[in-house]
Amino acid sequence: MAFEALLRQVRAAFDGIAAARPFLADWPEVGPHRVVQPSGLPVCRWLDGMEGASPALAAIRAAAPTLRWQQTYGAQDFGADFLAGYGWSEFVGLRGPFACDRMACGVLLLAPGVVYPAHAHEAEEVYLPISGVAEWQQGDADFAPVPVGQPIHHASWVPHAMRVGSEPLAALYLWRGGDLAAKSVILGR
Ligand SMILES: [Fe+2]
Repeated sequence: MAFEALLRQVRAAFDGIAAARPFLADWPEVGPHRVVQPSGLPVCRWLDGMEGASPALAAIRAAAPTLRWQQTYGAQDFGADFLAGYGWSEFVGLRGPFACDRMACGVLLLAPGVVYPAHAHEAEEVYLPISGVAEWQQGDADFAPVPVGQPIHHASWVPHAMRVGSEPLAALYLWRGGDLAAKSVILGR
């Protein structure tokens, strides 16, 4: 199954990343998966041109038309331009093809120039950029570029924000703790 190949590549991308270990302890066995209705988003058009040799990126690109791409926010949150350049797809979790109620894993896409204002959530989170160098901010720290392959850990309720430059961003994410389907609390616009 294409989904199973995708899941193997995504899991392998986190190999050797210490911050991911507690999340991966709850990684589900690959087996029968939920049927999810595929749905696209405008941000998916950036996938084809994304740079990088990440096998997970290649697997996501190949599977993209069969994935369910979603948005947590509406235009009232960060505006219509944000929605045109933002979306995510869950692979593991309460909604994704592989069911798990202890952790979630998926990919976030952001288009060039998108600013993802400060937000926070109960879940603890690890991001792993697989294409594109965006600027990331945590708490009161300055924005700083994070290269592909460098994990970012957000503890529960720590505010964080992203600024995407000229390259689109694809970042894998892991979530655990709290409501795995909760919407973030918006702190900045
Ligand atoms: Fe987050």
